[in-house]
Amino acid sequence: MLDLADVQGLVLRGYTMPRARHLVLRVDSPAAGRELLGSLVDGDPRRPQVTTGTPWTEKPDCCLNLAVTAGGLRALGVPEESLATFPEEFTAGAEARADRVGDVGPNAPEHWLPVFRDPGFHLLVSLFGQTPAAVERVTDDLLAGTGPGLTELCRLDAALLGDRVDHFGYVDGISQPTVGDTPPPGPPDRLPVAPAGAFLLGHPSQFRDHTYPVPQPPALGRNGSFAAFRMLAQDVDAFHDLLAEQSRRTGASPELVAAKLCGRWRNGTPLVLSADTGTPEPPVPAEELNDFDYAADPRGERCPIGSHVRRMNPRDSRVAGNGGHKHRIVRRGLTYGPPHDPAHPRDGQDRGMLGLFIGVSLRDQFEFVMSQWANDGRFAPGLGRTQDPFLGAGGTLPLASPGGGRARLTDLPRLVTTRGGAYCFLPSVTAIGHLAGR
Ligand code: HEM
Repeated sequence: MLDLADVQGLVLRGYTMPRARHLVLRVDSPAAGRELLGSLVDGDPRRPQVTTGTPWTEKPDCCLNLAVTAGGLRALGVPEESLATFPEEFTAGAEARADRVGDVGPNAPEHWLPVFRDPGFHLLVSLFGQTPAAVERVTDDLLAGTGPGLTELCRLDAALLGDRVDHFGYVDGISQPTVGDTPPPGPPDRLPVAPAGAFLLGHPSQFRDHTYPVPQPPALGRNGSFAAFRMLAQDVDAFHDLLAEQSRRTGASPELVAAKLCGRWRNGTPLVLSADTGTPEPPVPAEELNDFDYAADPRGERCPIGSHVRRMNPRDSRVAGNGGHKHRIVRRGLTYGPPHDPAHPRDGQDRGMLGLFIGVSLRDQFEFVMSQWANDGRFAPGLGRTQDPFLGAGGTLPLASPGGGRARLTDLPRLVTTRGGAYCFLPSVTAIGHLAGR
């Protein structure tokens, strides 16, 4: 049985809160760092506390979670023998692993926001609030309790745009893995339930007879997770130009082009369930928006095999290694930057998505998905060396049409650029106490 009170809440459930703030802190003195961590789990209701997986009786107005980089563990005084038991991708860090996930060229670390390359990126405190005021209040409470010895390097704010849409106008956050015996986090799917060990250390994983090694000591490693914290800029003007240009070339409506790129219409309706219109009659009920697989669409005539959602979660599609269910990721993201106003295009504003991609293994989940499924197409029939239409460096999206025809969208521009990445450990509540020296 999972001890929900020991697990950080955001691993198991989305808080569905419209505001987020990610505070990046440097630990200058281990004692100050330990004091902060201890205060987050000491049960004192007057101080911000880490939000756990325990179900709410009443929804709070702000939630808090804590992530630590390998540099952060060191700064808190974790001995090298213990650090050596953490997976090497985590201790190497996002910058060192950049080329594996396509962070090259314009995505490369030399173009990132400086904080992501700052060796003082030790702690990431993520706040999720019902209102801006709730986030401000918890920020103040948190920082009021920190003395010298901790330095705030940066705060990155994110917010919900309209009705769960991203800057390209798609409803996002529909599909998340159902974990162990916890309730489905959104509309249920028909995929195998992911074992808790696909997201938490110390439990049987998604691979048969395999449990990921728990970093030592167990009080530090067990019930922890790993997360890739990512800041991804979205070029909304390039996206609009792309819809117009591909519509002109192919005769498809701009909305159909948008649906083919994603695999869902912008209102969230899956192409597999409605291939010709995003507003079928009757509409696809909200609770069925995730209730599909690709068994009846093996060639991708409805939902392109290379579309974003089919690459990121191929479900029952044929993929190299038959691992379609083994690399699932929990996503916790919101948009940053001002909404794009089509009346004032090319405003030069930075906007995009900011959030955490969570799993038990950075290598087998985030890095695998980015390297094998997003940035290469050889895992699936007919994709060749194409890349994800959202995340790749542009190129081609093969389309299959009924009757055996093949077409493709070509000259796709780069739509998303990495502005920063950090590899983090999400310690359990026990582990936060352990790090605090309790
Ligand atoms: C700015 C960049 C991105 C945009 C605009 C974007 C957009 C979307 C949208 C609109 C959906 C459909 C909604 C849903 O099924 O919940 C989706 C699903 C998904 N995305 Fe992304 N995404 C981005 C980055 C990423 C990255 C970096 C990853 C992985 C590392 C990723 C993994 C996924 C996964 C796993 C799904 C669910 C697929 C499914 O279960 O059917 N996305 N994304």
